[in-house]
Amino acid sequence: MAARRGGYVATGQTEVVAVIDGPAVDRLRDERLDWRFKAVPADAWGATVGEYLATKPARGDLGTPLLTLDADALDHNVSTMADWCARSGLAHAPHGKTTMAPALWRKQLDAGAWGITLANAAQVRVGRAFGVRRIMLANALVDPGALRWLGAQLDADPGFEFVSWVDSTRTVDLMTEALRGVGRPVDVCVELGAPGGRTGCRDDDEAVAVARAVRQSPALRLVGAAGYEGALAHDTSPEGLAAVDTYLKRLGRFAGAIDAGLVSAGGSAYFDQVGDILGPLVATGATVLLRSGAYITHDDLFLQGVSPLTRRGGAAFRPAARGWARVVSRPEPGLALLDGGKRDFPYDEGLPVPLDLPGAHVSALNDQHSFLRLPAGAALAVGDVVRLGLSHPCTMFDKWTLIPVLDAEDTVVDLVRTYF
Ligand SMILES: Cc1ncc(COP(=O)(O)O)c(C=O)c1O
Repeated sequence: MAARRGGYVATGQTEVVAVIDGPAVDRLRDERLDWRFKAVPADAWGATVGEYLATKPARGDLGTPLLTLDADALDHNVSTMADWCARSGLAHAPHGKTTMAPALWRKQLDAGAWGITLANAAQVRVGRAFGVRRIMLANALVDPGALRWLGAQLDADPGFEFVSWVDSTRTVDLMTEALRGVGRPVDVCVELGAPGGRTGCRDDDEAVAVARAVRQSPALRLVGAAGYEGALAHDTSPEGLAAVDTYLKRLGRFAGAIDAGLVSAGGSAYFDQVGDILGPLVATGATVLLRSGAYITHDDLFLQGVSPLTRRGGAAFRPAARGWARVVSRPEPGLALLDGGKRDFPYDEGLPVPLDLPGAHVSALNDQHSFLRLPAGAALAVGDVVRLGLSHPCTMFDKWTLIPVLDAEDTVVDLVRTYF
């Protein structure tokens, strides 16, 4: 990305050898398995991840409840998004908060991603622990301690490229104060928001004033304009798509007004519109940076409904995550209680879907149980295991510290470590 004329070029040493510390990611295979990992059966305790994988365990050897990833679907989704970005001329910093899994970040970086997006200082610390050298913090950072830590990171590593967001002159003042004495300015984008959205300047004049304040700060460098269209719509209704369109056009105009070298937008639901509306800025020399993250596992409900590739045809993403839960009680006709609940499966964008039981549905989740409603005569006994489709990757990974990855034969070929 640094190579484009007029586009974003980081401060410091821009010759980046590797965007993530590969050996640090490899060392995750040396971690010893034990009682801390709820997916791991007791007979595997004491082995390292690598040793355990060498025994080629089967999915059925693992306990329930369980979350698994599909190796083929993951690779398909990563390469599909990388191809889309390459064809559209857009750079990509996948949102790392979705998985908080350095091994999956490495897959995305190996496929061509420019860097990793993160949401807060604690996540940036994880990124730095694994040597991630290009980070967009898609948020404002005003915690003085976190800013001091960031300054030390920038001073210690000339190859560390970091961009964060500001949406007020107060943010600029707080950053300027806390970053006093840091050897190079911190790159920032001005965040444009919209009424009903989340953070970001609501008013364009205010955004221009924030940009001016950044330019006057000795501790900051204005590099661009950013925002998140995903906060403005939740479906593909004409009103939802129009709200996203209107916002992205405004972001494009604002980027022009402040002469932004970097323009960033884009989750997993409307990245096609980002390409249509902001993509042309690439021809003017700007770097347009997508931050889609949830696409990596896609899902069976919410994203399946809104994903641009499903809507527009083409090589659609594939659901790459599955839940597995065991029937622990059949207390009434038509009701089975499963041993996985809110602690195990996402539930904020739709409840899990039983995939192999026609006519059945999950009606509710408790902390540790799912209520599975069954059609009359369904043959499901205590002890049976149910395969579940899931919705919303961003609240899926945080419930698991080690997630088995399965091949087409249901053999465990990897264990993905997360850090939330
Ligand atoms: C600011 C920001 N950018 C990008 C994303 C990624 O969007 P998605 O989860 O749809 O991939 C998110 C997700 O919440 C976000 O908050």
